[in-house]
Amino acid sequence: MTILITGGAGFIGHTLTSHLLSQGHTVLLVDNFNESYDPAIKWQHIESLSHLPNWSLFQGDIRDKKFLRQIFRTHAVDGVIHLAGLAGVRASLQNPAAYFDHNVNGTTVLLDAMRAANVKRLVFASSSSVYGARTGGTFQETDPAEDAVSPYALSKRAAERVCLRHHHLYGLNVFCLRFFTVYGPQQRPDMAISRFIHQLYTNQPICLFGDGLSQRDYTYVDDIVSGIGQAIERVKGYELINLGSANPVTLLDLIAQLEQLTRQRVPINWLSMQPGDVPYTHAAIEKARRVLDYRPTTNLYEGLRRMVASYQQSQLHASPQLTPGL
Ligand SMILES: NC(=O)c1ccc[n+]([C@@H]2O[C@H](COP(=O)([O-])OP(=O)(O)OC[C@H]3O[C@@H](n4cnc5c(N)ncnc54)[C@H](O)[C@@H]3O)[C@@H](O)[C@H]2O)c1
Repeated sequence: MTILITGGAGFIGHTLTSHLLSQGHTVLLVDNFNESYDPAIKWQHIESLSHLPNWSLFQGDIRDKKFLRQIFRTHAVDGVIHLAGLAGVRASLQNPAAYFDHNVNGTTVLLDAMRAANVKRLVFASSSSVYGARTGGTFQETDPAEDAVSPYALSKRAAERVCLRHHHLYGLNVFCLRFFTVYGPQQRPDMAISRFIHQLYTNQPICLFGDGLSQRDYTYVDDIVSGIGQAIERVKGYELINLGSANPVTLLDLIAQLEQLTRQRVPINWLSMQPGDVPYTHAAIEKARRVLDYRPTTNLYEGLRRMVASYQQSQLHASPQLTPGL
């Protein structure tokens, strides 16, 4: 298939590109290289693909109708994986309008361009945050998702509904995949695990929000991208599907594993829970198993080990005196 990935230069996007190319697909990457974090990191992601064949990059914005239509006019696209958007709960409180513009308006412009080009397959990157602030139980796709507690979560929920409208009106086939805290090498630098590893190796205190007992269903990026790969092949109708690991872990447990892997320890700077944060996530993954044959295989310790090794490797290039301990 020829697959267009929006947000292709990001953390998940470039990992997904390698995976899809290894499956024999042709990939068109769209990204605007915005400054949500250092664009040089996104260019490094692109650079890491340079030895692989069958992909092209289009630098531009999904809110730009002309730009998208030109791509669809000149390439026979079979399906779109829509990852582009502003990510992150805390930053969304600073600039909610930008989150709605990129995540909801951007999705609308993209779907209209797909309709004009008669492209009928879409996989959309939604988020576990749409379930709101819950304290227990597993999150089922049939649960209500009307109590988003951050602009980010609300923008993802609204974009799911934009997809539903296009399904009803124009017969678009859509799987909205709700990702649960994705981690792995090259994770976004603003995300907790990336920050913790950096703080441990640079001997800075770890800033921890809340009492350390909040829990997240951390999901390794390779498991996520193989779920996305299945989704674009199988997409039919309109479905909401969780992609998680079904194994919530507390922040304190996460930090203990990182201390063990890095053999570093730093003081913890305890801070109050941030508005918009949720205390707990736990994916039900039976639907993903049934519809996508999704089977996450990387446990947290192994995933963190790979992430720490990748961090060490990158630092080794920057400063050769660091000895790899793994
Ligand atoms: N990483 C996670 O834990 C997680 C969890 C749930 C959902 N998601 C969603 O998955 C997607 C990918 O996440 P990520 O962690 O790889 O984020 P990322 O920020 O690394 O990737 C997103 C990419 O989209 C690009 N982009 C943003 N707005 C754009 C626009 N208007 N036009 C073109 N490109 C644009 C950015 O430049 C960036 O490269 C996001 O939509 C995110 O909300 C991620």
